[in-house]
Amino acid sequence: MLRVCVCVSGGGTNLQAIMDAIDAGTITNAQIVRVISNNKGAYALERARGKGIDAVAVSPKDYEDRELFNEAFLQCVDEAKPDLIVLAGFLVVLPSVLIKKYEGHIINIHPALIPSFCGKGYYGLRVHEAALARGVKITGATVHFVDEGTDTGPIILQKAVEVLPGDTPEILQRRVMEQAEWVILPQAVNMIANGLV
Ligand code: GAR
Repeated sequence: MLRVCVCVSGGGTNLQAIMDAIDAGTITNAQIVRVISNNKGAYALERARGKGIDAVAVSPKDYEDRELFNEAFLQCVDEAKPDLIVLAGFLVVLPSVLIKKYEGHIINIHPALIPSFCGKGYYGLRVHEAALARGVKITGATVHFVDEGTDTGPIILQKAVEVLPGDTPEILQRRVMEQAEWVILPQAVNMIANGLV
């Protein structure tokens, strides 16, 4: 059984997609052992607790400096003894010691087709604002392994989504989630849990 630790910052719809896929049996051989958020108020924590999953907040606000936060965050991850760390809308830069320690065992969902609209400053709604500003007709989502760069690690899965006339960033974000993110993130977890990556 793959021990999965999911890191979240906000609403947690991608976490929900993973929990639903485990319940539905479309993800096999995996269990979520801990959900960690940098944000105490993240609704994602409630989603996890509602399922009886251990859910913990480690907030930078509670630590004097970044180094102390990084240590606490790493300890919180280590305690879960994860085989896989899933960044599901996690908007904090991971400590490089954690990336090195778990290299090849961390994946991220990004709401665009990498290498478009990715890297520093491209997260959440900003990605969709940039896609609309550029006038692309196709966007999508990417699941990739995390390395020390920003959105630079090896790509596991991608799925394209149409941009439609009249789209706002919010409408496009929702379509990308529904048609791509909530599909390929659970799929990637299942592939890893079953030795297919
Ligand atoms: C998702 O769209 C995810 O792709 C994005 O944040 C959102 C979180 O939503 N992640 C990034 O932009 C990372 N660069 P959720 O909390 O409802 O899953």
